[in-house]
Amino acid sequence: MKRILVTGGAGFIGSNFVRYVLTERPGVQVVNLDALTYAGSLESLSGLPGEARHAFVQGDIRDRGLVERLLSERQIDTIVHFAAESHVDRSIAGPEAFIDTNVVGTLRLLEAARAVWLGRGGSAEGKRFHHISTDEVFGSLGPSDAAFHEGTPYAPSSPYAASKAAADHLVRAYAHTYGLPASITNCSNNYGPRQFPEKLIPLMILNALTGKPLPVYGDGAQVRDWIYVVDSCEAVLRVVERGRAGESYNVGGGNQPTNLEIVQQICAVLDARFPDSPYRPYSRLLRFVPDRPGHDRRYAVDFRKIEHELGWRPRFSLDEGLSETIAWYLANPGWLSAIGRRDDYHGWIERNYTKRGADQ
Ligand code: NAD
Ligand code: TYD
Repeated sequence: MKRILVTGGAGFIGSNFVRYVLTERPGVQVVNLDALTYAGSLESLSGLPGEARHAFVQGDIRDRGLVERLLSERQIDTIVHFAAESHVDRSIAGPEAFIDTNVVGTLRLLEAARAVWLGRGGSAEGKRFHHISTDEVFGSLGPSDAAFHEGTPYAPSSPYAASKAAADHLVRAYAHTYGLPASITNCSNNYGPRQFPEKLIPLMILNALTGKPLPVYGDGAQVRDWIYVVDSCEAVLRVVERGRAGESYNVGGGNQPTNLEIVQQICAVLDARFPDSPYRPYSRLLRFVPDRPGHDRRYAVDFRKIEHELGWRPRFSLDEGLSETIAWYLANPGWLSAIGRRDDYHGWIERNYTKRGADQ
C-alpha cells in the first residue's frame, strides 16, 4: 500500500483514519475525496501530521469520471471507502439520499476501480478496494441471541442499514464476478473526536455541557456495541494491509451498555469534572422522548475472526474512550463553530468550560 484514495475523509471516522494512517505509515500518500456535505468539514483535517502526503479533493464519489482520473493520474493502489450518508434518523426522514450516496456512489466507485485496475493493461496485483460497513446490516438481536458473526444473514431494518447492506452485496459481487480484490469491515457504533453532534454520544456530551435536554428514545434499554474511533481505524488498516481479499471482518468494542447507561456514564464524568456546574447532577437533564420508528433493540459483535486471523482487538475501554472524547470536545470548541454549531454550543462551552477545563 503506497497511495490510498480515502473517500469521506473529511467526516468523522474518515478524518480520524487519515490522521491515523499518515502517522502510522510514513511512506503512504493519501488522496482524500469528500463532497463536504453537512457531515464533512475541512476543520477535521486541520493540523494533520505529514500534511505534505495528504491531498484533499472536493468532489462526489458518484462522479465516475473524476474517480477514474484520480485512480489513474495519482496511481492509486488502495481505496478505503468511508463516504456515506450515515445517520439512521435522517434515513428515516428521507431515504433517497442514502440510496444515491451509499448504493449508487459505491457502485460508481466499483465501476471506476474495475475500469482502471482491471481494464485493458491493468492488473489486480497489489490493489485493494475496502468498504467500511456497519453491524446494522445484520438487523436487531433478541436479548439472548448470539452476537453477529460474519455469516449472520443480512436483515437490515432502517433505510440506512438497507443501503449499507446493498453496498456490501455490490462489493461482494464485484469480488466474485470480476475478481476485484475487495474486503469489507462491518463495524459497531464508533465514537470519539470529530463526530457530528447528531449521534448519541457527542449529542449527549454537548447538550449536557450546555444545559440542554438529553433526549433518550423510548425506554433507553436499547443495546449497542461501542468502539473508540482509534481502535476502529486500527482495525481498518489491519484488514486493508493483511486481511484476505473477498472476505469481510466484524469489528467491535467488546461492550454492550444500554443507551441509558451510556448517557448516565457521560453525566457521571461531567459531575466529577465540574462540581460547581449549575446543571449538576447532569442526569437531571435526561428526558425520555418518543421512540425511533423501527428502532433496533440490540447489536452485539463477535470479532473473533479479525482477532484470530489478524491479531486485532480493541485497546480502549469505554471509560477511557468516553473520557478522551469528552476532553476533546471541551478542548476544541472551534471545531463546533466550523461545523456550524457556534450559536448552540461553541460560545457557551468556551465561556463556561474551556478555561476551567484546561485548568483542571
Ligand atoms: P460521517 O457522516 O461523519 O461522514 C461521511 C463523510 O462522507 C462526510 O465527510 C461527507 O461529506 C462525505 N460524503 C457524503 N456523501 C458523499 C459523496 N456523495 N461523495 C463524497 N463524499 C461524500 O460518517 P462516519 O460516521 O464517519 O461514517 C463513515 C463510514 O463508516 C460510513 O460508510 C458509515 O456507514 C460507516 N460506519 C459508521 C459507523 C459509526 O458509528 N459512525 C459505524 C459503522 C460503520
Ligand atoms: P445513533 O448514535 O444515532 O447510532 P445508531 O442509530 O446508528 O446506532 O444512536 C445510538 C443509539 O442511541 C440508538 O439506539 C438511538 C439512540 N439515540 C437516543 O436515544 N437519543 C438520541 O438523541 C440519539 C441521536 C440516539
